[in-house]
Parts: sequence; C-alpha cells; structure tokens
Amino acid sequence: MLQIEELTKRYSGGTTALDSFSLELGTGVLGLLGPNGAGKTTLMSIIATVLRPTSGSIRWKGEDALARPDLIRRVLGYLPQDFGVYERLTATEFLCYLGRLKGLSGRGLRDGVAEMLDLVNLRPAASRPLAGFSGGMRQRVGIAQALLGNPEIVIVDEPTVGLDPEERVRFRNLLSELAHGRIVILSTHIVSDLEAVADRIAVIRQGRLVRIATPGELLSHAAGRVFRVVVDADRLAQVQKAVAVSSISRKADGVHVRFVAESPTIPGATAIEPTLEDAYLLTNLEAA
Ligand SMILES: Nc1ncnc2c1ncn2[C@@H]1O[C@H](COP(=O)(O)OP(=O)(O)OP(=O)(O)O)[C@@H](O)[C@H]1O
Ligand SMILES: [Mg+2]
Repeated sequence: MLQIEELTKRYSGGTTALDSFSLELGTGVLGLLGPNGAGKTTLMSIIATVLRPTSGSIRWKGEDALARPDLIRRVLGYLPQDFGVYERLTATEFLCYLGRLKGLSGRGLRDGVAEMLDLVNLRPAASRPLAGFSGGMRQRVGIAQALLGNPEIVIVDEPTVGLDPEERVRFRNLLSELAHGRIVILSTHIVSDLEAVADRIAVIRQGRLVRIATPGELLSHAAGRVFRVVVDADRLAQVQKAVAVSSISRKADGVHVRFVAESPTIPGATAIEPTLEDAYLLTNLEAA
C-alpha cells in the first residue's frame, strides 16, 4: 500500500540522514529501531509529508505521494518527536481544534474527541488547561490527536517517551487493537515496547535499512548467540572489553554478565534464551 523507494535525504549542513532507503508497507505495526541520529525521524517526517526528500519516491495506493502530498495528509495521524501543545487550551479544546483541522465537525468531532480522551485515559483531566499537564500527560494528548479521525496511516515518533509503566502497557494494547486494517509506523528506543505489538521491525543505521524482520525472526537468529557468565567483580572490565554486553547484574555469587557473540568466547559461559533486546544488539554488531 505504501511504497518507499530509494529515499535519500541530505540536509543543508551536508549530513546524509537517509541513504537510498527502500521499504514496502502493508497494514500492521512496523517498529523502527536505530541509534540516535540513525534517520528514523527524518524517514517519518518525509512519509508524513512535512519534509521533502532530496531524491526517491513514495507511492500510496499506487499514486505518487510526493507530487500529491494531500493523498497522505487526508489519511494521516502523526505524532512528531517534538510535539508541542497550546498551553492555554484545555485538552478537549485542543483536540477539537486539531479535529477541525482534520475536517471533523459536529457530533463526529465531539464523539471522536471524547473517545480519544477515554483511550488515553485523560477524561478526568479533559477540562484542565494543558499548561498544567505533566510530560506524560502531554504525550498522551499527542497520541490522542494522532489517532483522532480514524487515520489509515498512523506515524508515531517515540510515543512512549515519558509514559509511566502502566500507561506504556495501555498504549501497547491500544496499538495492537488499532493496527487492524491500517499502517502504523512507530519508532522507539525501548526495544521491549515492540516485542508484543510489532508485526515487523526495521533496524536503521546511518540512514540505511540494515534488517527488516518479524520479532520472531530476530529472536531465532539470536538463538545460540546469547550467553551468560558469572565472573568476579575484578574481571568485569576485561569481559566488557572482550564481548558485547547486554546486561550486568550483581548477585551474591558474583557478577552475572549477559552478552551476545558468535560463540561462547569466555570460559564458563552458557547459552541462554535471547530477548528482543539481545537480538537488536546482535543486529547492530553484525552491521557495524
Ligand atoms: N534539520 C536538520 N538539519 C541538519 N541535520 C539534521 C536535521 N535533522 C536531523 N539531522 C541529522 O540527520 C541525521 C538523522 O537524524 P534523525 O533525527 O532523523 O535521527 P533519529 O534516528 O530520529 O535519532 P533520535 O533517535 O535521536 O531521534 C542526524 O545525523 C542528524 O544530526
Ligand atoms: Mg528521532
């Protein structure tokens, strides 16, 4: 439905943020993973038609979406990474304002706004000015405005930043329900956010697509390449130098070090079940 072909973006300072990036998207959740500066926000802004690529093409249902950005704008819900609100408006007023910009009115607008406020658990704060909202509450207003108007394409750039654990779970559930019949593109640095909801994960590095796979495929690729070893505290630095460590925990019997590698490498290491976080770390290692 959405075809991204050979997108390249060079900023005026000379940075190449996207480098011949191609991807085909159908309905479901696509998770974008990549280190700071990988090009995730650049890619999402271009698809959201707020930024023009240097070259390449985007087709939506077969039509040229760079020549006709309105085709995407009509069906888009977008939460930018640097989302801002009008401080003096209440949550309801702000959502009504954005809903009108999306072409909603009358009862459809009123019901839509009320439904979104429920979805993000903000009904009790609906009549308060946004100036008094916490960071996580603002983020939830951002999520609500992105989902308003039943968009076919939902692009959310680090939507879970600032959410408490309970609200993160809530957002994840919301997203899986929402994904039916639409395209959802989500970037995050919290790998576990994607474990249950992403149909596919795209790993981006230096503006290039390194890997695209289902969470299950990433996990099975990592199987047999994740190990644990228990070492004395004074050997820790040596281990950290030798292998890519994914976590460290201090316990009574020593320091438990979890690492990814092609082979056990360190004497005494045993293979353990990979998590998606391990799998992502491994993908980055392989791409480096
Ligand atoms: N407006 C801009 N002008 C010049 N360079 C930019 C601009 N926006 C981004 N860049 C550069 O483009 C590259 C990609 O940035 P981008 O924001 O797309 O990365 P990202 O993957 O979203 O990173 P993060 O995880 O930190 O949000 C970086 O090197 C960044 O410095
Ligand atoms: Mg970004």
